[in-house]
Amino acid sequence: MQYEVVLPAAGSGKRMGAGQNKLFLLLEDKPILIHTLEVFQDDENCTGIWLAVKPEERGFIQQLLKKFHITKVKGLPNGGEERQHSVHSCLKEMQQVEIVLVHDAARPFITKPIIARLVEAASEKGAAIAGVRAKDTMKKVRDGVIVETIDRDSLWMIQTPQAFQFNLLAEAEDVAEKVGFLGTDEAMLVERLGHAVHIVEASYDNLKMTTKEDLVLGEAILRKRAL
Ligand code: C5P
Repeated sequence: MQYEVVLPAAGSGKRMGAGQNKLFLLLEDKPILIHTLEVFQDDENCTGIWLAVKPEERGFIQQLLKKFHITKVKGLPNGGEERQHSVHSCLKEMQQVEIVLVHDAARPFITKPIIARLVEAASEKGAAIAGVRAKDTMKKVRDGVIVETIDRDSLWMIQTPQAFQFNLLAEAEDVAEKVGFLGTDEAMLVERLGHAVHIVEASYDNLKMTTKEDLVLGEAILRKRAL
């Protein structure tokens, strides 16, 4: 089933401490951003890519798209102050499609089988997001002291892609903007509408490149895949 994808790429990557947009850092021989884009470029079900970018980085990103033969990008609107604003600016430029995915440009290890399961689930149920089960014991801490041990069986660590029927996400984003609500992911905005969001078990490899340690792990994932 076909879909279009929104890739917010307009962050500053402060936690990476690279002094530049972390998406331009190389993993093996290619920028992180290109690794992510290639997954969607190579997925025959992906009919369009929307990239939210910083205005001052648009020219460089366009050069990268050309160099690495990424042809599916339909628009590169300006990102916003927060990730949610960056996603919203893409949605506002898109024509209506049936299914839209939102995926962090900083998660280069997403795979086509996971994308396909998310698209199918969103098409049937409206909203579906990628996640993995919490591995460690989870506790709630206040002022340095444990106040509660939380039942781990009900805890998931949430990733992207997050997949939605287009109208549902567009409504959730519009409502959030109107009331000034800022969520940490798109699912939160849909949850606020009272709509069920389903989980699709993804992979621990689907890391978000956030800190320097993630680059080391990322290189290891690429080496494992090349075996
Ligand atoms: O900072 P973090 O890694 O959580 O950001 C997740 C994704 O959202 C990254 O791909 C980043 O480029 C993007 N982002 C954005 N606009 C912002 C902040 C982050 O497009 N204002």
